[in-house]
Amino acid sequence: MKKIIALLFTGFLIFLSSAIADQNKGAEKMELNGGTKGKVPFPHHQHQKRLGDCNKCHVMFSQVSGSIENMKTEGKLKKKAVMSKLCLKCHRAEKKAGRPFGPVKCSECHVK
Ligand code: HEC
Ligand code: HEC
Ligand code: HEC
Repeated sequence: MKKIIALLFTGFLIFLSSAIADQNKGAEKMELNGGTKGKVPFPHHQHQKRLGDCNKCHVMFSQVSGSIENMKTEGKLKKKAVMSKLCLKCHRAEKKAGRPFGPVKCSECHVK
């Protein structure tokens, strides 16, 4: 009986770890649509590692490719809202706190 329980438990652990490994983390790097100012290269996985919590960003838009653009089209997200309320807000706060921070100048994010 003990052996069976141990076996079941091991199986459960294997199932659990593979479920975690299977979490869709999306693209490692991506290019966001920065409109007339030029596209914005974004190191996605670097942010995941640094920030830990997916919801630091994904409360604003879902974990689906193109969700920012779709929400803008549907009028659910204002232009530049992600940029100022998410990217810039955090980078500026980290800079102020004296920690490693991301770009805060237009041309450091937008490339043509
Ligand atoms: C610093 C912000 C940020 C964090 C933190 C973040 N993401 Fe994302 N994620 C984005 C952006 C930006 C997109 C692109 C959305 C779009 O295409 O409109 C995205 C898209 C995605 C997609 C869609 C597929 C793709 O490659 O476009 C998945 C899946 C995803 N993220 C998973 C995650 C998971 C899982 C975590 C946490 C481990 C996470 N993200 C953390 C910003 C972030
Ligand atoms: C930290 C990176 C970052 C910096 C710095 C930055 N941007 Fe952006 N910008 C983005 C991202 C990401 C988007 C797309 C998401 C959005 O619209 O919120 C964007 C979108 C835009 C758009 C297009 C909005 C639309 O929907 O048509 C314009 C225009 C723009 N930025 C201008 C600027 C200007 C001007 C500056 C400097 C004062 C600047 N950006 C600095 C990341 C940045
Ligand atoms: C909650 C905080 C937070 C948010 C939100 C965030 N960033 Fe960052 N970002 C950081 C930190 C911290 C660093 C410095 C990371 C490091 O040194 O590893 C960084 C670094 C970067 C870098 C430089 C990467 C490099 O190679 O050094 C870019 C580009 C960048 N961020 C773009 C963006 C864009 C675009 C968005 C919005 C879609 C965004 N970030 C949202 C915290 C954030």
